[in-house]
Amino acid sequence: MSTIAPLLLTPGPLTTSVRTRQAMMVDWGSWDARFNQLTASVCEQLLAIINGAASHHCVPLQGSGTFAVEAAIGTLVPRDGKVLVLINGAYGQRLATICKVLGRACSTFETAEDQPTTAADVDRLLAQDPSVSHVALIHCETSTGILNPLPEIAQVVARHGKRLIIDAMSSFGALPIDARQVPFDALVAASGKCLEGVPGMGFVFASKAALAQAEGNSHSLAMDLHDQHAYMARTGQWRFTPPTHVVAALHEALLQYNEEGGLSARHVRYADNCQALLDGMAALGLRSFLPAAIQAPIIVTFHAPRDPRYRFTDFYERVKAKGFILYPGKLTQVDTFRIGCIGCVDRGGMQAAVDAVAQVLREMEVLDS
Ligand SMILES: Cc1ncc(COP(=O)(O)O)c(C=O)c1O
Repeated sequence: MSTIAPLLLTPGPLTTSVRTRQAMMVDWGSWDARFNQLTASVCEQLLAIINGAASHHCVPLQGSGTFAVEAAIGTLVPRDGKVLVLINGAYGQRLATICKVLGRACSTFETAEDQPTTAADVDRLLAQDPSVSHVALIHCETSTGILNPLPEIAQVVARHGKRLIIDAMSSFGALPIDARQVPFDALVAASGKCLEGVPGMGFVFASKAALAQAEGNSHSLAMDLHDQHAYMARTGQWRFTPPTHVVAALHEALLQYNEEGGLSARHVRYADNCQALLDGMAALGLRSFLPAAIQAPIIVTFHAPRDPRYRFTDFYERVKAKGFILYPGKLTQVDTFRIGCIGCVDRGGMQAAVDAVAQVLREMEVLDS
């Protein structure tokens, strides 16, 4: 795969292809019909990934992923709604924070960071509290890499007649989600994750029915997805300055996504990356935090070596000098670090990263991992 060093083995921004980066060498006018066609084509291709053209609108939004999550909650949860937030990591915590900041009532259900939320939990919680209108969850909780059982939870939420908001930031494009089988009001993701675009825009797949009822819900002008969608549907243009280069890069990244074989091929490559990483690190004596059954092939959390000579910052700098950017852990109780499996990287890149880790641990004389 043609990239320039270093390889970013993180949850994003990720390593992108030369082709994707080259797509940003053109300046686009936001009024230009060709740019509007580019936006429409991106939205159409995104909807196709979830088989959502009949049921959902794709509403793109300027900003990082959190902007789109906040916009989805602010637009789709009415001001008198109540959100049940399912939490097993930092991004779940952020959903609850967003509800609080936006003044939406919310209750939280928290499991340990190595414990997926179950459909049975959600069934019980919804039976206990009829005032809940929406359930919000993280599909792959990137703070550990844990996968929550989205299809089962979505069925339970629908059976209770409640609405579902999914943060699929780090899973969309690599793990299958079919809008014809998984009922949801909103699914949120972004340009710079598994689609291997560059960061700078999020997008929300919003149920057509839910979005039609959402006028006036939003507390914010810029974050109002109802208004963003209505304006785009009327004019073909973004409200406010669009991230033109990001859209162009995402369009090029989507062409490559489809050339590679779409979601199934991307899933296979990331799963292979993840396996190469797990095997290589296990051979060095480094243990992963999650059991295989709940590990998504997105990012892996490893226990830090127990040797007192190990310091993450030193380890990080040395591995970086060999061409690989790793990521700190995000757990409060356990000392960990993370390595991502996503981006324009294959098994060979993952094995080279493991070799670099092995060399660095030898240099640091960190032995008893
Ligand atoms: C599951 C999840 N939600 C939300 C975000 C936040 O995205 P951003 O940092 O782009 O705002 C991330 C980022 O990695 C994520 O993994």
